[in-house]
Amino acid sequence: MARRFASLVPFYEYGESRFFQTDGAPESVAASRRAGFMRLSKLFAERFKKTAELTGEITGGVSDLQFTSRYRVPFQFRGYVRQHFKSGTFLESSSGVTVTDLDGNRLYDLTGSYGVNVFGYDFYKECIERGAERVRDLGPVLGAYHPVTAYNVRRLLQISGQDEISFHMSGTEAVMQAVRLARYHTGRNFLVRFCGAYHGWWGDVQPGVGNPLAARETYTLKDMDRASLRVLRNRRDIACVLVNPLQGLHPNVSAPGDSTLIDSGRSAHFDRDAYAAWLRELRAECSARGIVLIFDEVFVGFRIAPGGAQEYFDVRADMVTYGKTVAGGLPVGVLCGRAEFMRRFRDDRPADICFARGTFNAHPYVMGAMHEFLTRLETAAVGGLYRDLDATWNSRAKALNDRLTAAELPVRIANLSSIWTIYYSAPSRYNWMFQYYLRASGLALSWVGTGRLIFSLNYTEGDFSEVADRILSAAEGMQRDGWWWSDPKLTNKSIRRRVFKEMIQARWASTSPMGSISSPRIK
Ligand SMILES: Cc1ncc(COP(=O)(O)O)c(C=O)c1O
Repeated sequence: MARRFASLVPFYEYGESRFFQTDGAPESVAASRRAGFMRLSKLFAERFKKTAELTGEITGGVSDLQFTSRYRVPFQFRGYVRQHFKSGTFLESSSGVTVTDLDGNRLYDLTGSYGVNVFGYDFYKECIERGAERVRDLGPVLGAYHPVTAYNVRRLLQISGQDEISFHMSGTEAVMQAVRLARYHTGRNFLVRFCGAYHGWWGDVQPGVGNPLAARETYTLKDMDRASLRVLRNRRDIACVLVNPLQGLHPNVSAPGDSTLIDSGRSAHFDRDAYAAWLRELRAECSARGIVLIFDEVFVGFRIAPGGAQEYFDVRADMVTYGKTVAGGLPVGVLCGRAEFMRRFRDDRPADICFARGTFNAHPYVMGAMHEFLTRLETAAVGGLYRDLDATWNSRAKALNDRLTAAELPVRIANLSSIWTIYYSAPSRYNWMFQYYLRASGLALSWVGTGRLIFSLNYTEGDFSEVADRILSAAEGMQRDGWWWSDPKLTNKSIRRRVFKEMIQARWASTSPMGSISSPRIK
């Protein structure tokens, strides 16, 4: 359904005069928005000059950059925004909780490097350097293991509470292997995933938009919903259930990005007890039906507790995937699981195997950095970072929310520990602009903008209060410039209705023989 709908959405964009008034704001508000926009655009041109120039030189040849630079704001606004905001993608250094670009701008890092950065960039630099020293004599010899691997195996099995392990090169691959093994051992074909959950970019876990093929052996069920338990109970073809515990923050919703922020419909709220209760129900149902329960902890593993989601929610899975942070900053995927599900062969049927290899699996340099990561995890210094973890991040989120509420700003925070998302409490068509105000205030966000802020645990109270001040002053700037002007008639529903109408008009214009070309511009 989603894929079919996506293929029908026509491209159109707002011309300059419409850009500032898509919500019907009066001329004075549009003028204030325009002035703010141009001021910010000038600031970007001066402040991010070198970084933007180098990015501009290569973007035409880098598919990934072409994609991310297009999907930062709703498509109707992007042409005009891209023309005026060139910030670039290069960084030169990192230190503490900051990163520095080619123009020497030091920005507080809220990207978290897609979740890899749990303990601060200096920690990972050390893991990589010391890890490389440990394995230098062997170098990049593959196939055999460097002795540091033995420690990694022991520790990861202890931490996961599982029997066996396999090493891979990315989180995506670890999940692929978990599902393949579940199918092999159960003799059933279907995997279950929950609405909105990300498990990497391979076909079976990404049905719908983004994947040109339909995923034929995937059931996408509703998260935290009893009807889903009935499906598990009644079907005989389900091999495994994949859970990404990050969905506890926004069940049934995809990772929030600002390119879909056409109104203020985004919301999020994390209820640890309710999500834990749901996981326990899933656990019971899977056990009763012989379905393999897989926790995909590529994102949350080691971030929410040293023992990951299994420890945090006190529920044990049959298989667990890790990735991102666990190799001390180098690329990796890890699968840990119960022996009966991890075996790739059958003693009684020698030709019936479940094949999985990978040239770079257990690469000595990755194992070296992982060894450093895991040994440091046992130190008092790193252990201390987990102390009162939730209390710390919940109280920081609450304090910021209190300040935003007191200042009557329509911005709110929801968080799962150190993983934050911003949502908006009043209807607006311009929330996506907030990412540019934040950037101008010296905060680095990833390409999904305000949808995902990831803090490393080495943020001190001082660092955090600086970031909180900047978020507040960015929001005040956005408010002053009129982007959050509101009219009682403006609701999220009326915004969506208006956008839908524009789409119909654009589609008609692009298909009608009398219409303009395929990308109409609404003046
Ligand atoms: C829960 C989860 N699973 C799998 C993946 C894929 O990992 P990778 O990007 O290393 O392939 C990700 C990446 O964000 C993830 O968050």
